[in-house]
Amino acid sequence: MAKYKIAWLPGDGIGIEVLEAAKIVLDKLKLDAEYIHGDIGWEFWCKEGDAFPQRTIDLLKNVNAAMFGAITSKPIKEAEAELIPGLRGKGLIYRSPIVRMRQQFDLYNCLRPCKGYPGNPLNYKENIDLVVFRENTEDLYCGVEFSPVPPELAETLLRISKPFIAFKDFGRDQYAISCKINTRKGSERIVRAAFDFAKKFNRKKVTIVHKANVVRATDGLFLETAKEVAMNYPGIEVDDANIDAMTMWLLKNPFNYDVLVAPNLYGDIISDLCAQMVGGLGFGCSGNIGEKLAVFEPTHGSAPKYAGQYKVNPIATILAAKMMLDWLGEKEMGTKLENATAAVIKEGKIRTYDMGGNSKTLDMAKAIADKL
Ligand code: NAI
Ligand code: MG
Repeated sequence: MAKYKIAWLPGDGIGIEVLEAAKIVLDKLKLDAEYIHGDIGWEFWCKEGDAFPQRTIDLLKNVNAAMFGAITSKPIKEAEAELIPGLRGKGLIYRSPIVRMRQQFDLYNCLRPCKGYPGNPLNYKENIDLVVFRENTEDLYCGVEFSPVPPELAETLLRISKPFIAFKDFGRDQYAISCKINTRKGSERIVRAAFDFAKKFNRKKVTIVHKANVVRATDGLFLETAKEVAMNYPGIEVDDANIDAMTMWLLKNPFNYDVLVAPNLYGDIISDLCAQMVGGLGFGCSGNIGEKLAVFEPTHGSAPKYAGQYKVNPIATILAAKMMLDWLGEKEMGTKLENATAAVIKEGKIRTYDMGGNSKTLDMAKAIADKL
């Protein structure tokens, strides 16, 4: 029996191509794993009315980790129209499989390392090395939303809100509500993950990102909880910054920062910004990490316009595979894979279109595998 069981979830479009590339390097490393295919994505929505079928959920309950490519999502009306005729009109609602996966398996830690490898023509500056910890289950993405607003909620808000309420003169279908819900537990565990990481890997500083001066209740709770957690890590410098100022300072001097931790929405924003500084979508890798399961993926989507062409950059996915190796405890393999990737980037002979070349997806993977 193989040492690890890994769910293999290619999904749609270029998700299929970049996972094929990742498989080339994992095979070369001879990771002792059984890879089990899982159905996910648009095809299954159209055929079955479920983009994340129960059999895939069951598979994920029985694996050590998962590699995920990307899925296609479409607006509600289009989604409905593409269902097979027998399923149409049954009130099925398209929900993003990746969001469901994060919630179902409580993958609370969205970890995004952003490292600028020397020689990458897409680097904003050389040697950027930032790690973002984004809370992945709550905040504005908790899914508690109202449009139109139900009467009991509208009445309660009018009754208990402060005098300034912009919506008080509107009809219930003229405004919408998305709830930002942050818990102490949720805040504490993501901040703890950031500090544990900083301690383990000898990182100097953790920056707490928030907007507590305006969003007082929820971000206030996040900041307060974060500061409490920080007290348990006396050797690590702590600071905090407002999300808006943070985007500016990060661009101005990324070297002033090290590990960043944020609630879901701000973490989403900051991690895209950081990924762009080290090469953009072809380089953005991420881990969705919980207590029992971790799912690793490139952060890009299914890029329909390139699907089937095998021309996109597989490095994001290969770096996601590196993160998976580290998470499984195969540190030596992880480091080897990272070094091989860095060497190919530095050499500059194989470059996909985003890096200014015309190499194919699998040629990039083979070049990296050749260095292993
Ligand atoms: P996208 O990330 O799929 O692609 C946007 C553009 O970025 C591409 O057209 C391409 O120019 C570039 N790009 C993406 N990946 C690349 C790579 N590996 N190498 C080089 N260039 C790359 O975003 P888009 O077009 O907004 O969304 C397409 C579909 O993907 C949508 O249905 C969307 O809902 C879905 N999506 C899925 C995600 C996921 O599965 N986690 C994340 C983001 C979008
Ligand atoms: Mg995003």
